[in-house]
Amino acid sequence: MDSWHPASWQKRPVRQQATYPSAEKLSEVLTQLSVLPPLVTSWEIESLKAQLAAAARGEAFLLQGGDCAENFTDCTSPIITNKLKILLQMSLMLIHGLNKRVIRVGRIAGQYVKPRSAETETRNGVSRPSYRGDLVNGPAFTAADRIPDPVRLLRGYGRAAMTLNFIRALSESGFADLHHTENWDLDFVQHSPQASEYRRVVSDLAASLRFMETLGAGSYELNRVQFFTSHEGLHLHYEQALTRRVPNRTRHYNLSTHLPWIGFRTAAIEGAHVEYFRGIANPVGVKVGTGMPTDWIQGLLETLNPEDEPGKLILIHRFGADRIGEALPPLIEAVRESGRSVLWVCDPMHGNTESTASGYKTRRYDKILSELEQAFDIHSRQGSILGGVHFELTGDDVTECIGGARGLNEADLERAYLTQVDPRLNYEQAMEMAMAIVRHSTATT
Ligand code: PEP
Ligand code: CO
Repeated sequence: MDSWHPASWQKRPVRQQATYPSAEKLSEVLTQLSVLPPLVTSWEIESLKAQLAAAARGEAFLLQGGDCAENFTDCTSPIITNKLKILLQMSLMLIHGLNKRVIRVGRIAGQYVKPRSAETETRNGVSRPSYRGDLVNGPAFTAADRIPDPVRLLRGYGRAAMTLNFIRALSESGFADLHHTENWDLDFVQHSPQASEYRRVVSDLAASLRFMETLGAGSYELNRVQFFTSHEGLHLHYEQALTRRVPNRTRHYNLSTHLPWIGFRTAAIEGAHVEYFRGIANPVGVKVGTGMPTDWIQGLLETLNPEDEPGKLILIHRFGADRIGEALPPLIEAVRESGRSVLWVCDPMHGNTESTASGYKTRRYDKILSELEQAFDIHSRQGSILGGVHFELTGDDVTECIGGARGLNEADLERAYLTQVDPRLNYEQAMEMAMAIVRHSTATT
């Protein structure tokens, strides 16, 4: 295999990239980006990798979630805090119910690019470049918005830095103090059908905390929480510009995020994305789904984690509730045959997307839950470990997915349908999902 360097992907066939009108302007921006300070550090990345290795062994559990795509306008205090709150609350439910450490990873601070099924979008006979996410172009169907603009790369880096700065401040301060989980409450939580179960868990955890403190256990770790970031590493010029050699370390790190992942549409072994990802030291996720034969999967393991480093590779399967039963067992078998270790994670969102008669892209709570429950059961039957979940969710009160305890139906979707891309679980649906995971796992173990 040819030797790797941060630009070696440029010799490979590359999918899902924007076509910029001026290569020169793009290159100017990339030069600027490549000297800006990193957003995360190699120590954080190595710490995450060690924790993911524990999840692969069944000793911890990964909770990864956030928007399908962040918008630049989402860089506001309430949106960031609400996202943090829902992930913290879900993690409490999971810690309590699964009795395991929970690794919290947001799809946040850089999730600004989307793969699209078509290069162009046509409305009333007019065709324009598809919207690829705020890092590339704008969502409005105007010529000005849809032209890819390299300056957006700098704005995206800036938004990611501001978001992360706020998350870091919140995670280190009183906000994240486990003694004061009331800080994590969202305004509407009192009215939620899940409120009483959540309160019970919180008071249980508070009692355990008091017990530990009576025993004299250190309290520093309880005053703050660890929170990691992730995004789809789709825009390879951006990822390359933030890929750095770190002093005293031998490998390159992508310092734009802790956990970048390869999307389902860009996972070709010979493609540019796999080439880029094989050289970085970060833990790496790969979305896998139907239509990927055994040798493809085994090739991914071999290429992306040749040394079989623990915690390095995460297979995020996203088959859909109707296909997982048939598709997951052979995938598990293929990994077992390879003799390598992976962290298994279920994304129950991306195989369960459908369109309503009125044209909304939605997902049904029941299908999402069914895929998750099947995933737990299949892994347990096959002797592998489901070590995490990957959701599209928000801490806000949106109406994008159908179902859940509040019984949202098709007619409710128009009330607060805010996503520009995939539908997200709202606050209540996300909490309910965390409770359902716990219920299912405790019923089957
Ligand atoms: C996503 O995670 O938003 C996404 C596009 O997923 P996938 O690559 O699995 O389709
Ligand atoms: Co999505």
